[in-house]
Amino acid sequence: MGNVESTAEMHRVFNTAAEVYDQSGVEFFGPIGRRLVEFSGIGTGASVLDVGCGRGAVLFPVAEAVGESGEVIGIDLSEEMVKYAAKDARDRGLGQVTTAVMNGQEPDYPAGRFDAVIGGFSIFIWTHGAAELKPYRTLLRPGGRFAASAPSFFPTATGKWGFLPEDVHDLLLPHMTQPKQGDAYDCPFTNIHNNWLVTPEAVEATLTGAGFVDVEAVEEDLLITVGSGAQWVEWTRSHGMRRLWDRLSEQESKELADEVARRLDALRGADGIITLPTPIVYMRARAPRD
Ligand SMILES: C[S@@+](CC[C@H](N)C(=O)[O-])C[C@H]1O[C@@H](n2cnc3c(N)ncnc32)[C@H](O)[C@@H]1O
Repeated sequence: MGNVESTAEMHRVFNTAAEVYDQSGVEFFGPIGRRLVEFSGIGTGASVLDVGCGRGAVLFPVAEAVGESGEVIGIDLSEEMVKYAAKDARDRGLGQVTTAVMNGQEPDYPAGRFDAVIGGFSIFIWTHGAAELKPYRTLLRPGGRFAASAPSFFPTATGKWGFLPEDVHDLLLPHMTQPKQGDAYDCPFTNIHNNWLVTPEAVEATLTGAGFVDVEAVEEDLLITVGSGAQWVEWTRSHGMRRLWDRLSEQESKELADEVARRLDALRGADGIITLPTPIVYMRARAPRD
């Protein structure tokens, strides 16, 4: 499991972001959550654990997929995220959903407890390789399903990290990956070209090493649309990327935000919209049947 300081930093980042998380008007986690649930093949009546459930971008489509005869438990390190997800589940009248504050690195359930374990834009945050993915295989009954999404780290034609818009890549990448002095977060993707998500083959080898079978990983572009560069910057403050901004001085933050917004504004189409294709990876696998 990850170190205590790193986990505490993630707790801080997401607890702080929870109020505005996925509320900025930029469609991102919703479509990815719905696509992941569809890709996972989870069906009616299944018992599912959603690891790092956040405000429910995966939780609610999974609840719909399993129906009233199923069960979905959403766990998250951040009590603020869980607070919002639990309220939404109640407001939607979803009796099949429960939530709990729990560290997803050490899910406290018996082996074989679930038909499926799913994680939307969460598990990649703290996993460095097969050993940290093994607990999810252990939680599955024989033949049970695992599915997860992450920003794509597959090599692009330019060798850049495709998750960042190409026109601002040089401005933002150093802040995303380079550890700063005294930084507690043990970032699994410090080197974007050398981590377990760097190619489909690496993903397959890692999940196989964790004991999964029938592993598949695909990359699909999500088109992020914003009305201005400033809106994209604001969106990055509403999720895990807020760490980037948190670690800058007020002056540095303002200068970087202005330059990023200026460059993105130059991409505006005739319709006034800025469209940013953003590559997402979806992976699925099964626990062995015997
Ligand atoms: C980018 S958000 C994704 C949330 C949600 N699955 C979605 O698709 O919108 C990552 C989530 O993982 C949670 N998280 C981070 N580290 C965690 C850990 N060690 N255990 C459980 N949850 C964690 C964060 O609190 C946050 O809610």
